Amino acid sequence: MAGKGNKNAHRKGKESKTLFERIWTLANHRGFVFPSAEIYGGISGLYDLGPLGTKLKNNLVQAWREFFVLKETNPPVYELDGSTILPYEALKASGHLDSFTDPTVSCLKCKKWMRADHLIEDSLGLYVEGMPPEELTRIIRENNLVCPDCGGELSEVTVFNLMLSVKVGPAGGQTAFLRPETAQDIFMDFKRVQQSMRAKLPFGIAQIGKSYRNEISPRQGLMRVREFTQMEIEMFIHPKEIGNHPSFDKVKDIKIRILTREQQEKGETEPVEVTAQESLDKKILPNPYMAYYIAKETIFYQSLGIPYDKFHFRHMMPEETPFYSGGNFDLEVELSIGRKEIVGNAYRTNYDLFNHMKKSGKDLSVSVDGEKVIPEVVEPSFGVERAIYCILEHCYREDDGRGWSWFKFPIKIAPILALVLPLVRREPLMEIAFKTYQTLRENGLDVDYDDRGSIGKRYARADEIGIPFCITIDYDTPKANTVTIRDRDSRKQAVVNKDDLVEIIRKLYTGTIKFDDLVSS
Ligand code: GAP
Repeated sequence: MAGKGNKNAHRKGKESKTLFERIWTLANHRGFVFPSAEIYGGISGLYDLGPLGTKLKNNLVQAWREFFVLKETNPPVYELDGSTILPYEALKASGHLDSFTDPTVSCLKCKKWMRADHLIEDSLGLYVEGMPPEELTRIIRENNLVCPDCGGELSEVTVFNLMLSVKVGPAGGQTAFLRPETAQDIFMDFKRVQQSMRAKLPFGIAQIGKSYRNEISPRQGLMRVREFTQMEIEMFIHPKEIGNHPSFDKVKDIKIRILTREQQEKGETEPVEVTAQESLDKKILPNPYMAYYIAKETIFYQSLGIPYDKFHFRHMMPEETPFYSGGNFDLEVELSIGRKEIVGNAYRTNYDLFNHMKKSGKDLSVSVDGEKVIPEVVEPSFGVERAIYCILEHCYREDDGRGWSWFKFPIKIAPILALVLPLVRREPLMEIAFKTYQTLRENGLDVDYDDRGSIGKRYARADEIGIPFCITIDYDTPKANTVTIRDRDSRKQAVVNKDDLVEIIRKLYTGTIKFDDLVSS
């Protein structure tokens, strides 16, 4: 059932709340997301997705899987579902034990721990990511920065490893870590996948699953959490073929927006717009694999409701590039809380395979024409929770004359596709409505049913959680076998034959027809 809504609950004190707070309050109130283990006070940076958040996530993951995995044929992409607990040795070899750190500072008075670079950014507006701890300590001292909570003196800046450790087995057990990225399973299983699928270079391995990071100060809701879902692809390429993507022609004319290192050095913030082909001709991107993913991501995020001019790909500066990467282009989205990275595109070279070979003593090379080759890797790494917040914010609408706020989710990812409602709580309308709801669900359409409150209130509640269509069973239904479909975005209505409803809703879902086709027919 669609939840009981109080259309004003999340709008209380609207003027005094930021956009982020308004959306976050609505998302909590309507069961998209709430703190994990809330009844015990929870743990900061851990959230549960409620019924609507879960559906939104599943739809997003499914859309990603279709677009980046199932439709990819040349090169093909295989899937993996690996363990989330990895041994010490694996993360020593990958470099995470030594280098996966953030700078931290604590208050000597109230003992609060903070990320030193974030504290400096927030207090002085200086961007200092990647600076060594001594430099950060110097900036804190020179600017007399103190604890933002209690005004206490701050410690020296030290580095803190972000991995969460676990003990596996009884009596102290073996030291292991929750994986900080899904990628490491893929590198360790590379040879097995290649052999079992008889795969030839180039090919990709994708994984969708949880990753864990012991963030020093989780913040901004889903944007920086300690447990999150990644969708990652490692594309394995013959080093001599890194300049040839077999399907590049499909994306060569796609326009992309890139913020180059040169622009950042000059303090410019407006990205350049080039086609994928031009990005290679002008040597803005290092290879066609990187350009291929950046072009596809540009299409994908627009299909999720994030406008083209609200995101770009930023070439990370050397000091902020991850330790494993030969060059990163991060997809950053403009939000009310600032520009935020939601995808990391890394040119990982052969760094990971090489280091796992060295540490494990196992041969992870492949044989190509009798020659042993260690493939190079291009990796697009997508965060699900950050994408969910971006979708919430960019699909959020208010003050458009309706009297309530609502979500303009694209039909493909809307948590609920349609809501079936009897016009009033009277028979036979209720019975027909409930049967219609059951028929649609039996036909695989994710619809809901609501018979509580006035029709206007039910439309408002449906809009509020972004349901694209409302199907009303009215007094004409028993007589003429018709139902009325209301479109969320235009609020137009169309009368259709009830027997055609399953087909019509399916076609609206797949995009085979548009709502206006129903209105004019
Ligand atoms: N394998 C490469 C990798 O993990 P990353 O840039 O550290 O690269 C990739 O992470 C994506 O994972 C980010 O763009 C973001 O969407 C998501 N992510 C990383 N840390 C996160 C956190 N603490 N909370 C939510 N999402 C996070």
